[in-house]
Amino acid sequence: MDHTGATRPTSHLGAPLVELESVNKHFGDLHVLRDIDLTVRQGEVLVVIGPSGSGKSTLCRAINRLETVDDGTIRIDGQPLPAEGRELAKLRADVGMVFQSFNLFAHKTVLDNVTLGPRKVRRLSKADAEAEALELLDRVGVKNQAAKLPAQLSGGQQQRVAIARSLAMHPKVMLFDEPTSALDPEMINEVLDVMVGLAHDGMTMIVVTHEMGFARKAADRVVFMADGMIVEQATPEEFFTNPRSDRAKDFLSKILTH
Ligand SMILES: Nc1ncnc2c1ncn2[C@@H]1O[C@H](COP(=O)(O)OP(=O)(O)O)[C@@H](O)[C@H]1O
Ligand SMILES: [Mg+2]
Repeated sequence: MDHTGATRPTSHLGAPLVELESVNKHFGDLHVLRDIDLTVRQGEVLVVIGPSGSGKSTLCRAINRLETVDDGTIRIDGQPLPAEGRELAKLRADVGMVFQSFNLFAHKTVLDNVTLGPRKVRRLSKADAEAEALELLDRVGVKNQAAKLPAQLSGGQQQRVAIARSLAMHPKVMLFDEPTSALDPEMINEVLDVMVGLAHDGMTMIVVTHEMGFARKAADRVVFMADGMIVEQATPEEFFTNPRSDRAKDFLSKILTH
């Protein structure tokens, strides 16, 4: 498959999958999410970009309900976020999340890291979970590392295992919060390539990243956040070549110069 194409046509987009309506969140006096309205459609790849402290991680954590919000509504596939219990576990399976740090279980093998969730939450047998895990590890290019412990892998390999672990839950949407920012430069592309492959396979993705190459290759839309607000949104091409707001122009001039 050709992963080098510019912005994809939007005809592949389906029904609304992640919907935020007038979402607000405070940390004490700090208003970190301000009236966020955002709809992500099935198959859409949304890149979220913006200065440090603008609320990008809080947005992701709110969608996964790792943070509660003060008011407004968040719906996944038409359902409001559940507060607790079995429904919350189901939500966590539906909404995969990959963080900057890989959060793999250090004392478990790569294979066990990937099979744990499916066995517990999806109630797969050991054999079925392992067969599927090996397929996923193959898809992200680390099948031959399955028997190792995470510490025996490079950062890029560990992050690809973390992606496989999320995929093993059969999520409806994947959230990535700066998945390459803790990696050595030579490992960034191996992770981005896996993400580009996922995007082309039709996964719905919300990706916080400043990797413009990824945004141009894979994103349908770029959302620029500052001070807890969505300041502008556009196609990657429009956003990177012709940002409209002064905040975005200023931000891009800073990330483009180094
Ligand atoms: N648990 C928390 N308690 C208090 N303040 C927080 C907490 N998490 C984030 N913040 C603050 O909220 C703002 C937004 O943070 P964050 O969503 O992490 O931004 P970003 O990911 O864009 O850098 C920042 O000012 C941050 O310091
Ligand atoms: Mg962040």
